[in-house]
Amino acid sequence: MRVDYATLGQTLASLTEGEDDIVALMATFACEVHHSDDRFDWTGFYRVVAPDLLKIGPYQGGHGCLVIPFSRGVCGAAARTGQVQLVPDVDAFEGHIACASSTRSELVLPVWNTSGDLLGVFDIDSDQPDAFTSQDAQEMTALLKATFAR
Ligand code: SME
Repeated sequence: MRVDYATLGQTLASLTEGEDDIVALMATFACEVHHSDDRFDWTGFYRVVAPDLLKIGPYQGGHGCLVIPFSRGVCGAAARTGQVQLVPDVDAFEGHIACASSTRSELVLPVWNTSGDLLGVFDIDSDQPDAFTSQDAQEMTALLKATFAR
């Protein structure tokens, strides 16, 4: 099953309409994205909880590392640079954190609120190599904006 971004966007909009609680939004977003596509084996958020520090947020999949400094891993790189990290081969990414040894590729996106504060990052991991496209990055960026910066 491949994600239909138009349908996913509509589902997220209707489920989260009028909601502004960040945990409720993150939990609903992670759940809907995770179940929308067979490529997604771990789907969830890491939240900024202190300067240069991420902690696990709502997610779907096996357990994730609890704490990730901005200096480490793909998630840290997304938080540090504010740029989407599309990693086709995690073994080729210096400093990748292997929470699950099955992970082969990742897409990690920074998440901002309306004021432009960095809330955290959204991490999708796949057991398939080179699972993500630049279209996935663009569509996920738009969905995150529509949900967390509206
Ligand atoms: N893959 C991430 C770590 C988080 S988990 O795999 C759930 C990283 O290197 O940032």
